[in-house]
Amino acid sequence: MRQFFIIYFFLVALVLTVFGFRGCKSTKPPLEIFPDMDRQAKFAEQGATSFFADGRMDRPPVPGTVPHVTGDQKAFPHWIPDGQFREDSYLATGKVEDGSFGSGFPVEVNYDNMRTGQEIFTIYCAICHGDSANGQGVVAQQRYGYNTIANLLQTRIMELPEGEIFNTITYGKNTMGPYGNKIRVEDRWKVVMYVRALQRAASATVDDVPPEHKGDLGL
Ligand code: HEC
Repeated sequence: MRQFFIIYFFLVALVLTVFGFRGCKSTKPPLEIFPDMDRQAKFAEQGATSFFADGRMDRPPVPGTVPHVTGDQKAFPHWIPDGQFREDSYLATGKVEDGSFGSGFPVEVNYDNMRTGQEIFTIYCAICHGDSANGQGVVAQQRYGYNTIANLLQTRIMELPEGEIFNTITYGKNTMGPYGNKIRVEDRWKVVMYVRALQRAASATVDDVPPEHKGDLGL
């Protein structure tokens, strides 16, 4: 009988220790038997420290630092083949100083660039937008879940500044995915160039035919 009481007492004490105080709130710091590495001297982003004179943990880059991308450079939309970030340049963003989209091409408009643009457009864009950019690519015809593939020959898109089309290629738009990590900066501009050519071709009139070729059309 005595043993029973002793065991009973210990059981009650055990149950109370484990479950008894669970609902109790305490403002005291918890007992830490094994603190592991809960607290350690480390520098966190935007933290404060008395170590540096300006009180900031982050160190500003040394004046004159040139941002440089290493590793998988193509993963960066603003990557330019010379390895430098130029977040703010028209070439890298399609935007001008005040943040609005700019017009015109930061790469040379010539036959070679146009051909590259055509090639890339055919590889990446034609499946959805169609070879002639009329929005009737294979994906549109088969309705692979896309119901609203834009017809790039429509007036609204013809009137968009080049920079905005460049931006759409870089980041995508609504259901269209981004191509900034697949197509290089310069090459994206060449695609815009080719889109412009397709738009021009689709909206051309007889007046656009050079006089010396009008005869070819029997005019
Ligand atoms: C997977 C299909 C798909 C591919 C591939 C694709 N697009 Fe699109 N694109 C769309 C859809 C869908 C829209 C309409 C998005 C929306 O609802 O506004 C669109 C819209 C656009 C627009 C109009 C944006 C605006 O401001 O309204 C442009 C320009 C464009 N695409 C260019 C391109 C170019 C250039 C490529 C190739 C690099 C490309 N797209 C590849 C599906 C695609």
